Amino acid sequence: MSSNSPSRPGVPRAPGALPLLGHIPQLLRDPLRFLTSLPAHGDLVQIHLGPVGATVVCDPELTRQVLINDRAFDKGGPLFTRLREVIGDGLASCPHSRHRRQRRLTQPGFHRNRLSTYAEAMSAEVAVVADSWRDGHIVDVPRAMMHLSMRILMDTVFSGTLPPTAFQETLDDINTVMAGAYRRMILPPLWSRLPTPHNRRYSRANTRLQRTVSDVIRDRRASGRDLGDLLSILLTTRDTSDGLGLTDTELREQLVTFFMAGAESTATTMAWALHLLAHNPDIENRVHAEVESVLGGAPARWEHLPRLELTGRVVLETLRLYPPGWMVTRTVTTDTQLGGHLLPVGANVVYSPYVIHRRDDLYSDPTQFHPDRWDKERHQPPPRSAFIPFGGGARKCIGDEFSITETTLALASIIDRWRLTELPGQRVRPVASVSLRPLGGMRMRVHARVR
Ligand code: HEM
Repeated sequence: MSSNSPSRPGVPRAPGALPLLGHIPQLLRDPLRFLTSLPAHGDLVQIHLGPVGATVVCDPELTRQVLINDRAFDKGGPLFTRLREVIGDGLASCPHSRHRRQRRLTQPGFHRNRLSTYAEAMSAEVAVVADSWRDGHIVDVPRAMMHLSMRILMDTVFSGTLPPTAFQETLDDINTVMAGAYRRMILPPLWSRLPTPHNRRYSRANTRLQRTVSDVIRDRRASGRDLGDLLSILLTTRDTSDGLGLTDTELREQLVTFFMAGAESTATTMAWALHLLAHNPDIENRVHAEVESVLGGAPARWEHLPRLELTGRVVLETLRLYPPGWMVTRTVTTDTQLGGHLLPVGANVVYSPYVIHRRDDLYSDPTQFHPDRWDKERHQPPPRSAFIPFGGGARKCIGDEFSITETTLALASIIDRWRLTELPGQRVRPVASVSLRPLGGMRMRVHARVR
C-alpha cells in the first residue's frame, strides 16, 4: 500500500468522497465548511484529493505535537510541493535539514529592535492611505490593504527601491501566483502541466517575480550600500557555525518568501478586521474612543502600541476568526505515532488553524466576534495550543510580530480618521485561496470622522 493511499487503518474517512475525485469538489466549492465538519468524525480524519490521501488533524494537542516535531512532520505535502515552485527552498518551505541555518541567518532581520524602525515605515505608509480617502467614497478594501501591505514590505525589505511600474507588476504577480497555488494544490499534478490560460499566467507571473527580485539583489550587491533595511541585514549576516552568509539564490528565495508569506496574509487580516468592526458598531465605537484618547489626532506609532489594548484584541480576534494560513500541509518523514495511529513515511498531514479556532469546546460562541475574550483581566485566556494563526514550534511564523504591529497601527490610524460601512446587499464570505480572501468584494463606504 502506498503511504499516500486513501485508507489509513483506524483513521475515520471524511464522508462524501466521490470515485476518482475524492473530496476535491468539496475543497473547491466550500472548503471551510468541509473542514469545520471534520472534527465531528474524530481527532484525525482522512481526506482524499483525487488519488492523494491526507490526514487532517482536528485536535489542538495533536496539532501541537505535529508542530513541535518538525523533523518527523516536515515541510511537504500538497501545499508546499506547489509553493516550492515559487519560493524554492526558502525559509518557509525548506526541509528540516536546511531550516535552522536559514532561520539563524534571517532572524536578525525580525529582531524586536528592528521592528520599531519598520514601524516608522508602517506609520508613514498608513498615513498615505488614510490621507488619500475622501468622505463618502467607496473603497475596495482588500485591494487597498494589499497595496498598503506590499508598500510596507517594499519599504522594509528593500527600502522601496522599485520603480512604480515594477511595483505594480510585482503586486500583480504575487496576486496571480497566490491564487494559482491553491488550485494547483487541490487539483491533480497533471492539471498544472497543461497549457491552460491559468497555468500560462501563473508561469509568466512566477518568472517575472523571480527576475524582479534577482535584479534588486544584484543591484544592491553591486552598489555595496547599507540602507539599514531587511535586505542589508540579510546581505551582511554570517552564520556563526561556518562564517558564511546566504547565497544569491538563497537570498532570492527568502525575499520571494517574505512577499508571498507576508503580503496577502497581513492585507486580508486588516481587511477582515475592518469588515468585522463595520458589523459590530458597539466595538467599533469603543476602538474609536481608545484611538482618539491614545493618538490625540496623530498617526499611530510604535510607542502607542502598549496603550492600544482593545485595538490589539481586535487584531487577535480577527486572526482567530479568519486565520490567513487556514490549511497547512506536512509530510511524514519517519513512521510516527499520532493520536494512537501509525502514520507511515510519506503520509500527508494537514493542520488547520481555522478548524482549531472554531471548536466550541475551546471557545464559547466560536463564530462570534468577541475581542474581549482576549482581555486577560476579565477572561481566562484559551490554552496556547488553541490559538495558532502563526503555526508553532521551530517553524512558527518569523513575521508574527511584524504583522501584528502593522495591522494594529493600520487599524488605529484608519479608525481614528474614518468610519467604514459596508455597502447594502453585499454578502462577503471567506474564499479559500492560499490565504482566506474575502469573496464578494468587500467594497466599503468611508465616512470622515468629525473632530
Ligand atoms: C497576519 C499575517 C501572517 C500570518 C497569519 C502568517 C502565518 C504563518 C503561518 C501559519 C506560518 C507557519 C506555516 C507552517 O506551519 O508551515 C508562517 C510561517 C512563516 N511566515 Fe508568516 N504569517 C503572517 C505574516 C508574515 C510576514 C509579514 C512575514 C514576513 C515578512 C512572514 C513570513 C513567514 C516565514 C518566512 C515563515 C516560515 C518560518 C519558518 O519556517 O521558519 N509571515 N506564517
